[in-house]
Amino acid sequence: MRSGRLRIRELKSPEEFAEASQAAKAAWGFPDLMVPPPPDMITATHSGGMTAGAFEGERLLGFVHAVPRTNLGQPAIHSHLLAVRPDAQRRGLSVLLKLFQRDWCLARGIGLVTWTYDPFMLRNARLNLVRLAAVVPVFLPNFYGKVGGIYGELPSDRFEAHWRLNSPPVERAARGETAAETKGTAATKNGTDPESESAPGKEAELPVVRSGRFPASDRVLLPFPAGFPEVFRGDLAEGVAARRRFGRLATVLFARGYEAVSVVMTAAGPAYVLERRRA
Ligand SMILES: CC(C)(COP(=O)(O)OP(=O)(O)OC[C@H]1O[C@@H](n2cnc3c(N)ncnc32)[C@H](O)[C@@H]1OP(=O)(O)O)[C@@H](O)C(=O)NCCC(=O)NCCS
Repeated sequence: MRSGRLRIRELKSPEEFAEASQAAKAAWGFPDLMVPPPPDMITATHSGGMTAGAFEGERLLGFVHAVPRTNLGQPAIHSHLLAVRPDAQRRGLSVLLKLFQRDWCLARGIGLVTWTYDPFMLRNARLNLVRLAAVVPVFLPNFYGKVGGIYGELPSDRFEAHWRLNSPPVERAARGETAAETKGTAATKNGTDPESESAPGKEAELPVVRSGRFPASDRVLLPFPAGFPEVFRGDLAEGVAARRRFGRLATVLFARGYEAVSVVMTAAGPAYVLERRRA
């Protein structure tokens, strides 16, 4: 994949993996302990995973790294890392890296990519659910334990995104059509049932899930307090409590067959749109 001086390609040498490791450190601000060791990435790539970088000339601006995933009953990879150096962000590189990853998978008969992200990071939620059209069916409480860096003492709760590469929404997203541009079409992320579709502008009016209140609707809103982890570290007790409250509701909803399919802004703040999966 090439555009001007920019090129997306697989990493080729140990030095490039070392550069990727440094790009991850710069993107996340993690302490050295949490920085991905190049030998681990080389081993996972050698064993059926993939690592691709965005290069401008010789400089690696960002990368995506995935390991083989064998426990979902279908050919899949788990995309462990996506990082773009701070001085190269907001240029669309993360999307180019993910689209390269999608092509790489499709060429090998792999139809599913999973990864995790912090559900309170609005930026990542928008990238994953709106721009890439992944869905989220799983909540993983304190997945990595304490990771430090920008998280400090906060638990590392994660949403697990599932990117169904051959689904119509993902195909549209790969063509650069976002949900807003597909407004009015009957297809939903889980199928093609026009009954369960509401125009994106109307999604902010869906019934809202709160503690002890689960509306009997196939589409609901789950509000969340968006913010970078630093924000929640200011009042650690409240930050932890907010994560617990959100995690409890998400766990119940996913157990009842809902998936997060989008994220919207409401008058009260951002919220996930959850849709009940049809069997
Ligand atoms: C998240 C990250 C990979 C995005 O990389 P990027 O190349 O800057 O992202 P892009 O320019 O491709 O933007 C893609 C979409 O991401 C979202 N996004 C990215 N940066 C954003 C920002 N600063 N504010 C709001 N939305 C943002 C938007 O939805 C954007 O689409 P848009 O341009 O149509 O609004 C990068 O910020 C990063 O490395 N962050 C630290 C590590 C991390 O969080 N990794 C991802 C784990 S899932």
